[in-house]
Amino acid sequence: TKVAVIFGGVSVEHEVSVISALQAINAMDSSKYEAIPVYISKSREWYTGEVLKDIENYKNLDQLFKDADKVVFEQENENTIVLKKKERSMFSKGVITDIDVVFPVIHGTNGEDGSLQGYLELLGLPYVGCDVASSAAGMDKVMMKQILRDAGVPIVDYQWFYASQWHEDQEKIKQLAEQVGYPVIVKPANLGSSVGISKAANAEELEEAVDLAVSYSFKVIIEKMVTDLTEVNCSVIGDYEQVESSVCEQVLSTDEILSYADKYQSGGKTGDTKGMESVNRVIPAEISEEATTKVKQLAEQTFKLLNASGVSRIDFLLNPDGEVFVNEINTIPGSLSFYLWEPSGKNFEQLTDQLIQLALK
Ligand code: DAL
Ligand code: MG
Repeated sequence: TKVAVIFGGVSVEHEVSVISALQAINAMDSSKYEAIPVYISKSREWYTGEVLKDIENYKNLDQLFKDADKVVFEQENENTIVLKKKERSMFSKGVITDIDVVFPVIHGTNGEDGSLQGYLELLGLPYVGCDVASSAAGMDKVMMKQILRDAGVPIVDYQWFYASQWHEDQEKIKQLAEQVGYPVIVKPANLGSSVGISKAANAEELEEAVDLAVSYSFKVIIEKMVTDLTEVNCSVIGDYEQVESSVCEQVLSTDEILSYADKYQSGGKTGDTKGMESVNRVIPAEISEEATTKVKQLAEQTFKLLNASGVSRIDFLLNPDGEVFVNEINTIPGSLSFYLWEPSGKNFEQLTDQLIQLALK
């Protein structure tokens, strides 16, 4: 089975995606699957080639682009989509290989938000993970919260607005923050990896926080900050027929908001990142049995409400009173959350196998 693993892309989480994708490629059972790396550069060009499988090669992108083949997906006939060289010679039609299934491993914009999924639907290619609507709803924190709130799933108080409203009437937005109650967390509505997120304790800090958030997104969300919070994540795998939740992890951060740097750049330069492995985490989370049961139940419920499929990670906030709030769903989680499945005996190879089989089902 030929699996095109698509990664990179224009999202601010480009580097994380490279790490997650290469991890997934390495994990795949090579006796069963041929992993074909398809890397989308930051300037939206698509490449394939063996060189893309080695993380070291991403330190010199000019060389990487020379050594890889620039490609496109093309319909060869009714049943066949092929990966074709963009620069074809007189002698070669340029077909590199046909594709059986696509494994999207792009975090954030254009990869996790339904756009890539829509493209694959048009091509008629089966793919791993969420469909267009659930990807879009999962990526947009406002839509996600509306779906969860409607079903009575506990979430923190929030308000949201368009960036244009901020430019028109800042006082009105400040009132929204008052309504939520300081301190608040201000977030772009559709990014991941903590990009553009900041805390505001008063109207002055709100201004700075919103200015930052609107520089990333046309839609912004203001959330009530949970003080003395415990961050707990849980992964769910499956589809509309059957789901399974993983052990819980507790995320430890030095700062109040785990930044993109905390998550992926603690080694310094981007090229040195170890991905999700660089985050301090405790597995299983040191929370009560009752809280664990609640988290797992809400994780599965959230997954189903969003009509997710494949593997997602649902992130929670716990307050000192033991209250549990769903914070968000990540439909293409960093490292595909493989480390949350290992403790229950599903290794990364089995995880990728299950995901591909779900896509082909
Ligand atoms: N958006 C990142 C990759 C995550 O939450 O896992
Ligand atoms: Mg996220």
